[in-house]
Amino acid sequence: MTNFYDKYYVDRHQTDSLKWDGVTERFGSEGLLPLWVADMDFKIPEEVQNKMIERINHGVFGYSVVPDSYYQAVKSWQKNQHNVEVEKDWLRFTTGVVNSLHYLIQCFTKEQEAVMIFSPVYYPFYNVVNDNKRKLVTSDLVINKGRYEINYEEMEEKIKKENVKALIFCSPHNPVGRVWTVEELNIVSDICHKYDVLLISDEIHQDFVAKGHTFTSYLGVEGVDFDKLIVVNAASKSFNLASLLHSHIFIPSTDLRASYDEFIKTIINNPTSLMGVIATQTSYEYGKQWLSELNMTIDGNFKLMKTRLNELLPEVIVYEKQGTYLSWIDLSAYITQDKMKEVMQEKAKIAIDYGEWFGKNTGTFIRINLATHPKNIELAVTGLEKALKN
Ligand SMILES: Cc1ncc(COP(=O)(O)O)c(C=O)c1O
Repeated sequence: MTNFYDKYYVDRHQTDSLKWDGVTERFGSEGLLPLWVADMDFKIPEEVQNKMIERINHGVFGYSVVPDSYYQAVKSWQKNQHNVEVEKDWLRFTTGVVNSLHYLIQCFTKEQEAVMIFSPVYYPFYNVVNDNKRKLVTSDLVINKGRYEINYEEMEEKIKKENVKALIFCSPHNPVGRVWTVEELNIVSDICHKYDVLLISDEIHQDFVAKGHTFTSYLGVEGVDFDKLIVVNAASKSFNLASLLHSHIFIPSTDLRASYDEFIKTIINNPTSLMGVIATQTSYEYGKQWLSELNMTIDGNFKLMKTRLNELLPEVIVYEKQGTYLSWIDLSAYITQDKMKEVMQEKAKIAIDYGEWFGKNTGTFIRINLATHPKNIELAVTGLEKALKN
């Protein structure tokens, strides 16, 4: 049997890939193996590519509509993969999940109002708050027996003290790899409900879940306050479609939808990308098997990396990856923060996301993108060993 990675891995050099061709500019060093930005080195499912080719061959790209079959594909995916019933009316389209977060913060909060995020977290969350001139309030995740958890007391304390208006929640969590349990989701939404905080749940990593864990969308949490909940997602992470610029906002509340529609009409007129729509729909219709093999490949890469690092550099801490395709690793036993750039780039020769990008107190951490051929994971581990053993 051919491995998923043998079948779908592609050399992305000289394809204008940010990860591969933009690495030198971003990192300022030559010859780095890119394991940074979160996209994958794998081709999309054949059915998706064929559908796009078919549309290209049609040769006309005038204004388009989103067909009913699109909504059906989204509904079926959410129902079959995540056991959630979503309604067509809830759905709004944007050109990217980060864009959605900007719009939602602009629409539902005012300048100087406080917005909370849990740190460490995907760094654009900081920009969404700061660039919109909202007050950034962070609540630090805490490590308990090797697992990142939410500090509910601090969360509640800060919500009260800072009069927080919105929480941007990351589920599953990038970079720490947690898939939140229903109990955790309930506590967070209860606290939000108690203080009238709008809960914005970024669920873009929902389709990457390690064996033994179950992702629960906030749209499927019983008793959650739909009047204060918005969920954002896309097929772009799951099926490697980021540059097609197509994503979803789910707004179950009629009132919130009305406010959003009023706000967005001055910002975007036609929010759908034809290729994004085609690729998303076809991925949801035909991509299940591909995704399942992909998840096995990612789990395999994680295991490979963890086992090899444990052998070669036993004091490296590799956090359990419950979700996402990103591995969160603490190198503090071997290196200090001030040496990170030099050692990773000049010695290990890898381009990774530095822990300091995600928040404070993570300066000796790295985030490694596992959605690649295992040979690249081997190379990264060898590079790390060489660099850190000296
Ligand atoms: C949590 C999270 N949200 C959003 C994004 C980016 O989404 P988009 O490219 O649609 O803006 C990423 C990409 O890594 C992510 O990790």
